[in-house]
Amino acid sequence: MSNDQAFVIDKNLGARLNEDDVDMPVANSDGLPVVPLTAEQKYLFDMRGWLLVPGVLSEADCTEMKEFSQQLHDDSESLPEHERSAVAGPLQKLTDHPNVVGFMNEFVAYPGLSNQECYGFRQESGSLFYRDVGDGNFAPHNGNGMFRFPGDSHLYRCIPGKANSGLTRVVWELNPITEGNGTLLVTGSHKAVYPAPEGLKSPDSPIWETYTCPPGSLLFFTEALTHSARPWGNTEYPRIAIFSCYNTVNSKWHNWNPHPDLVASMPAKRQTLYRPVHVSGNLVGGEIH
Ligand SMILES: [Fe+2]
Repeated sequence: MSNDQAFVIDKNLGARLNEDDVDMPVANSDGLPVVPLTAEQKYLFDMRGWLLVPGVLSEADCTEMKEFSQQLHDDSESLPEHERSAVAGPLQKLTDHPNVVGFMNEFVAYPGLSNQECYGFRQESGSLFYRDVGDGNFAPHNGNGMFRFPGDSHLYRCIPGKANSGLTRVVWELNPITEGNGTLLVTGSHKAVYPAPEGLKSPDSPIWETYTCPPGSLLFFTEALTHSARPWGNTEYPRIAIFSCYNTVNSKWHNWNPHPDLVASMPAKRQTLYRPVHVSGNLVGGEIH
């Protein structure tokens, strides 16, 4: 065990978990190598509560995914029932995209429920946000994530060298985000100890931060962060974004499940994203320690 390992406590009488024994997946269900977060990305996400990875998807992927999203939005009846979903068709591979798995391995996964066949986290919502001009409302929520009791997944916990994000939002922006159109975020508010000031109830508060990005970009934020939607203002094209939530294996906030026929058609490792919500014995392809 190296000295730079954080002091993570497991079911071991308060002794330090040896991270060398942890078996996080190094490939996703398509056999693509997982992309671990860099030291800078870990630092930025922990410090800010959000992380933007610009331009992850190719133009061809964005085009195919937007076509499917358009069909889902305009004419979902033309799709088989089990594929009327933001985790179906070409969007399915986003669920365990190598960058998503790399992030979750660091900030969400439970080490005891992870191996090369089984993700140590769950996906617990997935939806298409298709917004024309004026769609979307300013509605700030959350913050102060260090002080939530178990049962409230909007939590953020950290010790020197390691952090855990609880309910975590993943946003794939399939169209470019220009000035004034990104999700609003209050950097650092996941660790705030004071209530939000009154000014934050206005979208014009200078405390709000946001981002611009090219198509195919990936945004992570902890739901413990203060954040808000706002009306879409780009007249040239709609917002086409895939909004998902991930969580620890033993917690579930949303009343959402993908259609069982869709899950059954997925590769085995991807199916572990949707396994039952409990811990004991809930590891596919391995022994619980
Ligand atoms: Fe939210």
